Amino acid sequence: MAVDILIGLQWGDEGKGKIVDVLAPTYDIVARFQGGPNAGHTLEFEGTKHVLHQIPSGIFHPHIKNIIGNGVVLDPIVFRTEMQKLTDRGVDAAKNLFISKKASLILPSHRILDRVSEEALGSGKIGSTLKGIGPTYQDKIGRVGLRVGDILADDFQERYNKLVERHRKTVEFYGQQLELGEQEQAFFDAVNYLKSLNLVDSEYMINEALKNGKRILAEGAQGSLLDIDFGTYPFVTSSTTLVAGACTGLGVAPRHIGEVYGIFKAYCTRVGSGPFPTELLDEVGEEIRQAGREFGSTTGRPRRCGWVDLPSLKYSIMLNGVTQLNMMKADVLTEFDTIHICTHYKLPSGEITDKVPHSLEEGSVKPIYTELPGWKVDLNQIDSVEELPEAFKNYLVFVEEHLQVPITIVSVGPDRKSTLKRDAMNVA
Ligand code: GDP
Ligand code: IMO
Ligand code: MG
Repeated sequence: MAVDILIGLQWGDEGKGKIVDVLAPTYDIVARFQGGPNAGHTLEFEGTKHVLHQIPSGIFHPHIKNIIGNGVVLDPIVFRTEMQKLTDRGVDAAKNLFISKKASLILPSHRILDRVSEEALGSGKIGSTLKGIGPTYQDKIGRVGLRVGDILADDFQERYNKLVERHRKTVEFYGQQLELGEQEQAFFDAVNYLKSLNLVDSEYMINEALKNGKRILAEGAQGSLLDIDFGTYPFVTSSTTLVAGACTGLGVAPRHIGEVYGIFKAYCTRVGSGPFPTELLDEVGEEIRQAGREFGSTTGRPRRCGWVDLPSLKYSIMLNGVTQLNMMKADVLTEFDTIHICTHYKLPSGEITDKVPHSLEEGSVKPIYTELPGWKVDLNQIDSVEELPEAFKNYLVFVEEHLQVPITIVSVGPDRKSTLKRDAMNVA
């Protein structure tokens, strides 16, 4: 058996939570491999909306084991609140949740470091979610971080104090004081709660499951264009958001990777700072934002909106080895007479390319668009791909032919049920 992986191909918020939940019934295990509470994955079913931050999106299916892998940075306080919400909704999450002892711990001081670092960057700020992600990964790579397994050690408090002292000095370097207040007590309470859960060597759990023929789905967080190496650096997150991250973030050998689902919106969004070639700063962008309810699931910030960008999708497909595409939120574009699709970039030299250059800095590439007629039909009311309007099918096939990967899922609404499966493979 292999591990299938679902990856966002844009700047996050493509609808990963929804599709993991849709695909989950055919899997035995769903595992998160990177990121942390910066993620906000939304699932909607039976009239209720759920937003998950650190807990994998298979949690609503009682037969599925959900793993928080070693590559994740876990905030115990946020985690405890998430678990409480699930309990309030009648979900017994503790039974089906397994947390890697090697996952990194986000301390309250990491969140403060995130804030002071952003303040110091001023207008060059990353637009971080301020959840402490960057500082926690810095400590991991700097080999001074704390991990979930450490909470079981007798000297955990001492190790915690030592790390907080480092953080205190850094905060002072920025000319501020580290004031933890009630957060410290909340952290230790949450750590105690964490001790009552299944803390495991998840690399063994996953590899044994693979050996026993179990089906595993790895759930990406963020998106490929936020990847630490290949994203729009420095306006990225601090983890490997690509398929490669699933190998290191779960302990799965590359030869065990199976299907790679690449998920993208029929348009494009981004939260936080950084380049966005197809961004629409006009009323069209605002219309997409309103129609798509494009406000952050984690921070509530308005998402920047623009047309779909095929060069960046090709880039993400290449980096991830995508085998199937999922097109999300086409229903949002219903009102438009014309749909724009960016097929190429024009570089400052005048060269036309479909490759993503080293830097996408604001204004360095100009998108070149093809325009196709809109469909003007509410896709949310449609139950099968056959019933899709011709104009939409033309759009779908145009995108598919450019990307050379079959689009096997078309999502036409936030609900679990608004999902059309598609066998047709128009790709040569
Ligand atoms: P994720 O971070 O990739 O899981 O995505 P988010 O949950 O942050 O953002 C996706 C948003 O779009 C959520 O509010 C979903 O409920 C919603 N959504 C997902 N698929 C569709 C769709 O096909 N149509 C519409 N209109 N909304 C969708
Ligand atoms: P999901 O999993 C969209 C963005 C932030 C910021 C940058 C760095 O829901 O798709 P960080 O807090 O990671 O240091 O922020 O990355 N970002 C996301 N944008 N969706 C996400 O997750 C994101 N996680 C981080 O807005 O620009
Ligand atoms: Mg999200």
